[in-house]
Amino acid sequence: MRSFTGLPEEALFIREVRTAGIALRPAVDALLETLTLPVDDPALADLLAEATRGFTVFAQSLLSVKRTITPETFSFEMRPYFPPMTVGGQVLYAPGGAQMTPLLVDILLIRPEPGEPQEEWYEQYLVENLLYLPAAYRAASDRARRHRPLLPRLVDEAARHRAHGPEVQRNLAELRSLMREVLRFRLPHLQLAKANMNVRPDGSLGSGGYTTDSLDHLADLTLERHRLLSEEPAAGRAQR
Ligand code: HEM
Repeated sequence: MRSFTGLPEEALFIREVRTAGIALRPAVDALLETLTLPVDDPALADLLAEATRGFTVFAQSLLSVKRTITPETFSFEMRPYFPPMTVGGQVLYAPGGAQMTPLLVDILLIRPEPGEPQEEWYEQYLVENLLYLPAAYRAASDRARRHRPLLPRLVDEAARHRAHGPEVQRNLAELRSLMREVLRFRLPHLQLAKANMNVRPDGSLGSGGYTTDSLDHLADLTLERHRLLSEEPAAGRAQR
């Protein structure tokens, strides 16, 4: 394994980012299979559970980095080795977190829909980041975007089902577990990024070229979708 600093923190960072990246590959495949399944389909629960398993590993990797690497070590010893590169006059920021697989999970699961307040911001975020993905993931994104995002679609379909059968209950419960893991990554990550920005000079950018504003937008979007799911009437009915 190549090292720029020889620090144990760098070795841990490389290991955790690799583990996190690999863990979400089956999650993306599973979520792609859900695109055409209705809310009462018995196959949905297992596919969502597969995605949750991947995101659990992703969240754990982030927590391990957060616990072990101080903002000072990351920002001053490691971050200098993530410089943007200028190729043919174009500034390229990869590789950065914004180009990791949660981008695809967001597209499949919670992306803003036409007319929603965050749509314009999100479309621009996609334009800037999708071009860094391997061809197979860009194709997956194209496929996902021909369908509604899973979470708002399933919530709408569940609302139209007058009697919630056990499949609908189970599928929504699995979706809630998945969203819990997405938040278990996203909120501590936002905290970690802010702790790093606090020790850096004003106006610093993350390795993907963004400030933490993009992370605030993503956290808001995730929390808003999580709320939509928690308010779904089936949640109440399941407890009665
Ligand atoms: C295992 C460790 C890490 C993982 C897996 C990870 C993953 C990610 C992901 C998936 C994103 C896209 C936004 C999102 O989905 O919420 C992102 C963006 C970002 N991350 Fe991380 N991250 C890690 C460590 C860090 C650390 C230590 C910092 C410290 C500054 C950081 C700062 C940022 C920033 C500023 C962004 C915004 C986009 C950018 O400029 O790249 N991340 N990261």
